[in-house]
Amino acid sequence: MAKDVIVACDFNSAAETFTFLDRFTEEKPFVKIGMELYYAEGPEIVRQIKARGHKIFLDLKLHDIPNTVEKAMRVLSALDVDLVNVHAAGTRRMMEAALRGLTRPDGSRPLLLAVTQLTSTDEETMQRELLIGERLEETVLSYAANAAAAGLDGVVCSPLEAGKVHARCGVGFLTVTPGVRFADGEVGDQKRVTTPARARELGSDYIVVGRPITQAADPAAAYRRCVKEFLG
Ligand code: C5P
Repeated sequence: MAKDVIVACDFNSAAETFTFLDRFTEEKPFVKIGMELYYAEGPEIVRQIKARGHKIFLDLKLHDIPNTVEKAMRVLSALDVDLVNVHAAGTRRMMEAALRGLTRPDGSRPLLLAVTQLTSTDEETMQRELLIGERLEETVLSYAANAAAAGLDGVVCSPLEAGKVHARCGVGFLTVTPGVRFADGEVGDQKRVTTPARARELGSDYIVVGRPITQAADPAAAYRRCVKEFLG
């Protein structure tokens, strides 16, 4: 898949989501549906957004025993989304099971990403509370390598890690990166942010952008600016 901007639709109702998507009259952005919207509205919201012609990243971050994840992925695969994800911490066996579940009888399937370490987890917490003694960056790269070995298509990571992930797992291994802000925009609760242009320089394949677009006075204009800066 080509590089693209994914708009995080972090809303808690279908009504709010459609009011937002109706602002896009000329383009059909790739959208991310996360837990908030999915748990509020169920699978029907996925079908409705798909029917409007959008590509969909269903960001549910599955993490359970391999058998459960495999069966859950079989259900999600039938929703015909474009990207889905799991936690790499669920192990290679769980990731392999997820891939099996996603693969349809005709061999087609949505792309599958792994979340490595959440960006809300800092190194000290990871070491003291989760008892993972390595450096945070090493666990991110090692989890990415596990995902690649399991046959996954890429990881969700910081744009700042994209280059190292590509170096470890190959340039074809996708890096999907949140934490993007315009140079003149508000940072909000994100800690380590980059601009769309910088994310491109760092090698991100997809950037996930929420509030800089969803909270903009003119979301379609903000989206176009983002695409222009990221794709050049
Ligand atoms: O509004 P903002 O641009 O910060 O939205 C970023 C989106 O990416 C949100 O949906 C957030 O949950 C998600 N995300 C993130 N950091 C991660 C994983 C996902 O910001 N490590």
